[in-house]
Amino acid sequence: MITDNYREDEIQALITLAELEFPIDTPNNITYKTFPSNIDEAQSYFRSFRTDLTSAYKRLQTQSLVEPHKDFWILTPGGKEIAEQVRKARPPIYYWYREYHSAIENSEAFDEFSRRIFGENLGQHDFTDITQLKMMLERVQLDTGSSVLDIGCGNGKIAEYISDMTGAKVTGVDYIPEAIEIARKRTTSKSDRLSFQIGDIEDPVEAGIWFDLVLSIDSMYFSDADILLTAWKKLLKPHGKMAIFYLSLDGKDISAVLEKNSLSYDVYDLSREHWEHMQRKHISAKEMKAQFVSEGNLFVWENLMMESVSDKSPYDPEKTPMRRYLYIINNSLDSIRDQSTLH
Ligand SMILES: C[S@@+](CC[C@H](N)C(=O)[O-])C[C@H]1O[C@@H](n2cnc3c(N)ncnc32)[C@H](O)[C@@H]1O
Repeated sequence: MITDNYREDEIQALITLAELEFPIDTPNNITYKTFPSNIDEAQSYFRSFRTDLTSAYKRLQTQSLVEPHKDFWILTPGGKEIAEQVRKARPPIYYWYREYHSAIENSEAFDEFSRRIFGENLGQHDFTDITQLKMMLERVQLDTGSSVLDIGCGNGKIAEYISDMTGAKVTGVDYIPEAIEIARKRTTSKSDRLSFQIGDIEDPVEAGIWFDLVLSIDSMYFSDADILLTAWKKLLKPHGKMAIFYLSLDGKDISAVLEKNSLSYDVYDLSREHWEHMQRKHISAKEMKAQFVSEGNLFVWENLMMESVSDKSPYDPEKTPMRRYLYIINNSLDSIRDQSTLH
């Protein structure tokens, strides 16, 4: 990963200058003010991880990535290229997730809320309750000989649940170091079947490792679906499957991208359940606001509210374009042929 080459303050310095010189409106841009008009606004990108950048600019100058300009710094042409790549790897939501995964770990309010809404606290940052997880597991048939890759695993509780239920070996990948650390610490006694690593959804594990199941629960929104499916299908064993929980806000699904990648699939429409889930979320979140606030976790509560609907009417597909799907995807004939040496 490009970010491995730079210290955190250097990453922040590069992004700060990128935001001042060529800001972009990134997708999933949680609470950060896009197109900042000054350094302070640009640095709000890093939320509570904001750090002093004075010495970082000087170090970047020795690498010819920045140069002094008037009373501040600007990126050199080489610096612009690097800054662009670093910003892509560390979008504003990255810093939000660092706070989120740390906050929910010790939040009694989140624990109670999750039990009410999901049936169990599996650290969900999504819409997948125990019923939906069981439905998925029935369709993929895992056992102690199976290997699973959970992409965007968060604190790894869903990966652990799947392994506990099936005996499968599960690897969880997420780009948030705090989440991976929490997952590893919690599951040391199960390290024979659970492992967690920092990685990016576009390139989650080193080449040459294949899985019986590649799982994505609400992690497809952070990159291009075509790029992701092309990368993920290379990780499947012959006859392996992918399971993807996917929310579409505008009704567009990923079937065209699946077909483009020669992937056959079954799709389950969970839109009604999803609508009812959002309605329940609204009621419980409203009831529990004080608990979240008293823990200092208002930002978690605000996010739960964003994922809810106050509309009490029954689900009407004509009225709402929002759709939620579970895709169970089979490995394509093409990639089975590519892996013909695999046993
Ligand atoms: C919506 S949450 C879903 C988490 C979990 N799968 C669940 O169902 O609760 C998306 C997860 O993807 C992770 N994520 C987002 N972008 C990523 C990236 N580029 N590489 C790796 N993980 C990423 C986030 O840290 C977060 O844990």
